[in-house]
Amino acid sequence: MDSTSYKPLQDNRESEDQHSDDEKFWEEAQIRPRSLWRQKWLIGAIILPWCLLLLESVFIADQGAGWNCSSCPPSSQLLYSPAQDAVHYEIKKFNHGFNDDISPLQGPPSDERDKLWEDLYNFGMSAIPKSQATLLPNRTGPIPGLDGQYLVELDVFHQLHCLNNIRMSRYPDRYTTISHNGIPHDFADSHVEHCIDSIRQSLMCHSDISPLVWQWSEEQNAMRMHGDVVHTCRNFDAIREWARARRPEVALDPFERAGGGGAGGG
Ligand SMILES: *[C@@H]1O[C@H](CO)[C@@H](O)[C@H](O)[C@H]1NC(C)=O
Repeated sequence: MDSTSYKPLQDNRESEDQHSDDEKFWEEAQIRPRSLWRQKWLIGAIILPWCLLLLESVFIADQGAGWNCSSCPPSSQLLYSPAQDAVHYEIKKFNHGFNDDISPLQGPPSDERDKLWEDLYNFGMSAIPKSQATLLPNRTGPIPGLDGQYLVELDVFHQLHCLNNIRMSRYPDRYTTISHNGIPHDFADSHVEHCIDSIRQSLMCHSDISPLVWQWSEEQNAMRMHGDVVHTCRNFDAIREWARARRPEVALDPFERAGGGGAGGG
């Protein structure tokens, strides 16, 4: 069986049969008109008021939260993020990761591959205005030398840094330090272990429910799992562009303290 192309479970012939079976059932039972009438009555009298009530409560909850994520499906983001409007959903097929379906980031280290990894996250932190910093669920610090600008880093970039840290720690002959936000780290066990557990929490937090499928492989004469299926994804490029556009215009020195304390926290 072709492992890459999407095949609906039912082919047309089956669904046609199903359709005519349904029709026969309705004809024989002769309950279609009454049932339709009953459905309309049901919609009008019971379902509609409930829908209106639901809509109203969503509207009230929206106003109460003080922010509105226009592109988010319901409850995709329970807490405010300054990047929430950069969230766009898309369908993306993952790489299989074997044979010739391999992403350019996979494989033994090279200068080109290092650059691809760094391009995923290594553009520093983001500067946000005080008006957004005050909406954060926690407090963040002001940026020294940038009036009214506050510092954040979207966690996806921290997670990617962490994954790169784990990747690099496998090649101690090649890598001795990894730099993150201008601070060099070595590959101490505690840092690598922090990274593994941070990625574990992130994976569980975002629980990807895309179903992987099992298909018969003639080649291996066995059922095989296929991870190279379509997934519902947040468009990463849009989120990376959000961060790139907000790089602080000053070099950050983590040892410099700005006056004014933090903003945010609720
Ligand atoms: C806020 O940050 C502090 C320091 O990292 C942390 O201990 C606390 O749990 C955070 N609170 C919230 C609500 O995120």
